[in-house]
Amino acid sequence: MTIRKTIAIASAKGGVGKSTICSYLASVLSNSYKVGVLDADIYGPNQDILFDINDKNIEVDKKNTERPYIPKNIDDISINSLGFLLDKSAAIWRGPMLSSAINQIYEKTNWGDLDYLLIDMPPGTGDAYLTVCQKIVPDFVILVSTISKLSITDLKRTIDVFESLNTKILGIVLNNIHQSDGFQDFNLETENVILDRIEFNKKFIDLSYPFDDLQLDSLFLNTVRAIKEYD
Ligand SMILES: Nc1ncnc2c1ncn2[C@@H]1O[C@H](COP(=O)(O)OP(=O)(O)OP(=O)(O)O)[C@@H](O)[C@H]1O
Ligand SMILES: [Mg+2]
Repeated sequence: MTIRKTIAIASAKGGVGKSTICSYLASVLSNSYKVGVLDADIYGPNQDILFDINDKNIEVDKKNTERPYIPKNIDDISINSLGFLLDKSAAIWRGPMLSSAINQIYEKTNWGDLDYLLIDMPPGTGDAYLTVCQKIVPDFVILVSTISKLSITDLKRTIDVFESLNTKILGIVLNNIHQSDGFQDFNLETENVILDRIEFNKKFIDLSYPFDDLQLDSLFLNTVRAIKEYD
């Protein structure tokens, strides 16, 4: 089992489009690469909905004691989720339990050989982030933000957190989730590169895999290019 690159999709604010962008990126990358998705959002795992997975029971290979969890396979994308592993009471778990759950699902899943493992993070900068940055140690993180002042302000704090954890930030995807009339000219005051600007798109809402008519290749052109260039 080898994972060539691990990429966390993160933000401080909730509801800015992390899960959506994570699944779309997985879909685009899977056209040319072997891709996995780890849904690490214990509070609101969504990858099952995005990938239209109805059977939420985790399959276990008892003979494989080291990595017993078998990820779901959607068109060759390997998906595992904390939502498959834990019951609803998990949502009120404390930090250390959350950290160990994330670590466990990562380590005990038989991912096979992957080019890219994308981690869909929960909102915030708490224990889940510490676990992912210190135990899983992603090669880099892609930040997602809306263009609102509040989101940008929180984004700057998230950047500080990742920098203090020595996690490389590949760049920021700006997601125009709240507006339909284009991007404002917003002063981000950050050194980090804007990878792509995703316009408001009604089709994003309630859509599930396959994301056929979204032309994701062109939407995520720079993000995919930056991922490929990072070696
Ligand atoms: N560009 C967009 N245009 C329109 N709707 C969008 C866009 N991006 C995301 N959405 C919608 O916004 C909602 C929130 O997106 P999503 O769940 O991906 O955010 P999130 O950051 O993962 O949230 P959470 O922090 O709760 O995990 C979803 O209903 C999604 O379909
Ligand atoms: Mg999410």
